Amino acid sequence: MKDVYILAIESSCDDTSAAVLRNDRVLSNLIANQDVHEQFGGVVPELAGRAHQRNIIPVVDRALKEAELEMSQIDAVAYTRGPGLLGSLLVGSSFAKSLALGLGKPLIEVNHMQAHIMAHFIKRNDYDPIPVFPFLCLTVSGGHTQLVHVHSDSRFEVIGQTIDDAAGEAFDKAAKIMGLPYPGGPLMDKLAKDGDSQKFKFTMPRVDGFDFSFSGLKTNFLYFLKKQTAENPDFVQENLNDLCASFQHTAVSGLIDKLAAAAASTGVEDLALAGGVSANSLLRSRFSKLCAETGKRAFISPMAYCTDNAAMIGITAYYQFLRGDFGRMDSVPSARMQL
Ligand code: KG4
Ligand code: ZN
Repeated sequence: MKDVYILAIESSCDDTSAAVLRNDRVLSNLIANQDVHEQFGGVVPELAGRAHQRNIIPVVDRALKEAELEMSQIDAVAYTRGPGLLGSLLVGSSFAKSLALGLGKPLIEVNHMQAHIMAHFIKRNDYDPIPVFPFLCLTVSGGHTQLVHVHSDSRFEVIGQTIDDAAGEAFDKAAKIMGLPYPGGPLMDKLAKDGDSQKFKFTMPRVDGFDFSFSGLKTNFLYFLKKQTAENPDFVQENLNDLCASFQHTAVSGLIDKLAAAAASTGVEDLALAGGVSANSLLRSRFSKLCAETGKRAFISPMAYCTDNAAMIGITAYYQFLRGDFGRMDSVPSARMQL
């Protein structure tokens, strides 16, 4: 079969990314981060949209150059249709549509949450294993926490999700409470490495089935720190590593316990971890341990494909291309697009 070249664009939140794929191989994957949000302690939608507008042309240009490809060699243009910030999605979708129209090539609209899962299908060599359907994927990001029973590359069944905050959001909020810069997740992970995870006891609220709740853990953390700092204003500074380790231990245990229960109930053989929070070192090691103990195959993407990136949009688009699932010029971005 003829090789398929896809140019993919991701602009759902605060990273502008473009990637070029040849079939299921990544030729280039460029990301322009937006540090303009740091000073506000979170993503400011209006600023994100403007930064995407500034970044998108240079990022796409560099992705093509790095892939050593001319625009005319592209077979399809893929973009993130949702979910995400509407202003950010609009930049990527308008750009992708104009490009596809100008080149006379098909357009492929991709669901960002499917893409986090489909990142596991990116191959680096012929022998690279990929998950076998049906499998279970725990997708944990700044905006989502989902347990997905993946039946095929076009059938994704959400069997559990957060009823309030997402896991990454909980990390970011806990970090903010301690005065750490945004995004706090990666920093807490780093600080936790030198901390005692048993020093402080925090609790995850109990939720039925495979659903999660992280807002109670954040409140628990907030009130604990309020009480301690009233007695000792330097409490956070003096216990920073232990606080990060203890919070991380509770949040990760909450995720792993539900994943273990879902794995036992569905009987799948393969388990996968996806989304930005899967960069967390404790989550990665507890996930690998769970798989080793239960005889499941473990799939964790390389870091570059865990956080938001266009390569994951490209691989999802490649599977859509193979089954003829093309987009429409009149479709609009969807901030709350479901799986
Ligand atoms: O998937 P992603 O890049 O963007 C969204 O679609 O949300 O995920 C970003 C989230 C942020 O909340 C960030 O704090 C969290 O992932 N994150 C981490 C780590 N690396 C990124 N959380 C905990 N530990 C990490 N190492
Ligand atoms: Zn994401």
